[in-house]
Amino acid sequence: MSVKAVTAQAVCPVCDGTGWKSAHAAEHAPNGAPRTVTRCDCVLRARAEKLLRSARIPRRYEHCDLENFDVFPGAHPSLADARFSARAFIERYDPATSCGLMFVGPCGVGKTHLATAILRELIATRGIRGVFYDYRELLKEVQNSYNSSVQTTELEVLRPVFDADVLVLDELGAVKPTEWVWDAVSFVLNTRFNDRKTTIITTNFPDEPAAELEPAGRTFSASEQARAAARRETLGDRITERMRSRLHEMCRTVVMQGKDFRQHVNCANFR
Ligand SMILES: Nc1ncnc2c1ncn2[C@@H]1O[C@H](COP(=O)(O)OP(=O)(O)OP(=O)(O)O)[C@@H](O)[C@H]1O
Ligand SMILES: [Mg+2]
Ligand SMILES: [Zn+2]
Repeated sequence: MSVKAVTAQAVCPVCDGTGWKSAHAAEHAPNGAPRTVTRCDCVLRARAEKLLRSARIPRRYEHCDLENFDVFPGAHPSLADARFSARAFIERYDPATSCGLMFVGPCGVGKTHLATAILRELIATRGIRGVFYDYRELLKEVQNSYNSSVQTTELEVLRPVFDADVLVLDELGAVKPTEWVWDAVSFVLNTRFNDRKTTIITTNFPDEPAAELEPAGRTFSASEQARAAARRETLGDRITERMRSRLHEMCRTVVMQGKDFRQHVNCANFR
């Protein structure tokens, strides 16, 4: 194909490469005057593509949308409900009312799939600035920024996390909890809460309280200790009860149940 043909193909036939097209007669500018030109769709498309490229969506999840989230025969009913919640969230998304979603459930039920589908759709159709972060990677980057040989500061690392209109924070709680981790999580979540930014969370940990702290001066019996050890860790244990309660102000919880989808289909598709 000749260079000329390639160039000709790249020029938008609607706006002839100007980025503006004639407005529909009924369209009005914000000041009420009739519009004569409006932004061409090719500009909006290019902007969405750029935003998608900077959203850090892992390649494994680049294909995810609500249409290919399959509610197969025999699927747990919570999966259809979760897909419905995701669709309603996209339709009603309003940056001014920042409430997000928190997908909670076991491995492989499609939490990250739905969270990514929402992010991609909002970027493509609403032109929002969205970003995907794996919780472990985010903490690693923050920790790295403390390393004196690295030139980035904690604030620089977190800037895209704070600035995004919509943040997907995947696998919340997946890092072993320590004072340092709790500080970082509360910094991120509180900043987004104060700035009224929307956050979408996924987590494997049940949205339940932290274990009661040992009352001072009381020793636990062997059976109490055994029960505590066998107890499944909760989100409260992993991010503190204070942060879990903050999350309830920021997100609506969507519980997903069922089998690991990776076992349901041929695993080769997922390698
Ligand atoms: N209902 C579904 N329809 C189509 N694909 C699905 C469905 N559920 C999950 N998948 C696919 O299965 C894989 C695993 O799903 P996903 O990673 O979203 O699960 P998860 O709940 O986030 O699991 P984990 O807790 O391990 O992170 C992904 O490739 C996803 O696209
Ligand atoms: Mg996941
Ligand atoms: Zn155009």
